[in-house]
Amino acid sequence: MRVYFDYNATTPPAPEVVEAVLRATRDIYGNASSVHHFGQEAKAVLDDARSAVAALINADPSEVVFTSGGTESDNFAIRGAAEALEPTGRRQLVASAIEHEAVLNTLKALTRRGWTATLIPVDETGIVAPGAAGEAIAENAALVSVMHANNEIGTIQPIARIAEAAHARGALMHTDAVQSVGKIPVDVRALGVDLLSLSAHKLNGPKGVGALWVKRGTRLQPILTGGKHERNRRAGTENVPGIAGLGVAARLAATKLGAEAARVATLRDRLEGGILARVPGTTVNGAREPRVPNTSNISFDRVEAESLLIALDLEGVAVSTGSACSSGTLEPSHVLRAMGLSAHRTQNSLRFSLGLFSTDAEVDSVIGVLPRLVDKLRGLTERRSPQSLARG
Ligand SMILES: Cc1ncc(COP(=O)(O)O)c(C=O)c1O
Repeated sequence: MRVYFDYNATTPPAPEVVEAVLRATRDIYGNASSVHHFGQEAKAVLDDARSAVAALINADPSEVVFTSGGTESDNFAIRGAAEALEPTGRRQLVASAIEHEAVLNTLKALTRRGWTATLIPVDETGIVAPGAAGEAIAENAALVSVMHANNEIGTIQPIARIAEAAHARGALMHTDAVQSVGKIPVDVRALGVDLLSLSAHKLNGPKGVGALWVKRGTRLQPILTGGKHERNRRAGTENVPGIAGLGVAARLAATKLGAEAARVATLRDRLEGGILARVPGTTVNGAREPRVPNTSNISFDRVEAESLLIALDLEGVAVSTGSACSSGTLEPSHVLRAMGLSAHRTQNSLRFSLGLFSTDAEVDSVIGVLPRLVDKLRGLTERRSPQSLARG
């Protein structure tokens, strides 16, 4: 049995999504900008998907701009707002220290062009305190960007309160909701934001397609120049099959926010409880609540996460580490580091993320193999370097 517990990296597409993408690829091949029948058929697919995405986040369809995914949506929100607000003299961009690279590296790029970037710190809960956000936001802030749910530890951020602080300083508020849309109810009006990013492949939709919700009246400079697509906001012939898939994924997600989310939460809690009970020296990273129902990030004392990940993969179990391997060295997770965890703990953590096709049998199988694998790796480490016992 192969177990896929890496839904936060990407999700398997729902069968209905595959069907819609296939049908649109084969049958709806017109260019949505064409006035003839074929074009209008494609435009109808876009309109339908736009309504489905809008309904999922309580927005108006005219406010939804289709993009190539979460990364483009984040870039569009931040670069588009920064450029539109440049004449006002507002030069500060604010984000939390635990954002995805799509936000952090966009801020970094803009600092090379005269913008200042301020990162809001977090504590070991992995939750941004609205007070800390308030302190970070200066009078000349242009945009505040804080993610709705964190991709590594799943914690849900107090977006409405941070949006209040941003608006009090006259700044726009963006939230990267890539990891919350489809997992928990997301309501753009209740969140009080101006811009919200989402990505289809995180909610059982296809890869390479997403959307940016832009509140009506928000000034945003397009980042792609070209034709007049998407009401002049995003140039380029629309990805009709991908958008059709996103629409179907959004409709499915709306029906699954109740019982299905509770089912996944029960599985996740049983997995987490089982690991904590059966593997000594394990700790959950970040606050357990508020957290999206599918994510658990766990530290394994005296085990290198990368080795455990490979050992699990050999047993057919796919999980993830927050650390990235760059130029041959293990970069510790910037999220766990920002939470103030020790250097060792940032490198011995695994993320388990579940979803639509996860089952009780899969949870049992992972709880079953982990104690043996961890024991074996700890034995090897202790033989190699007895002093590593002292670390924790
Ligand atoms: C929080 C968050 N933002 C943005 C992205 C990027 O989305 P995409 O893969 O659609 O570009 C991801 C994907 O890992 C994510 O988890």
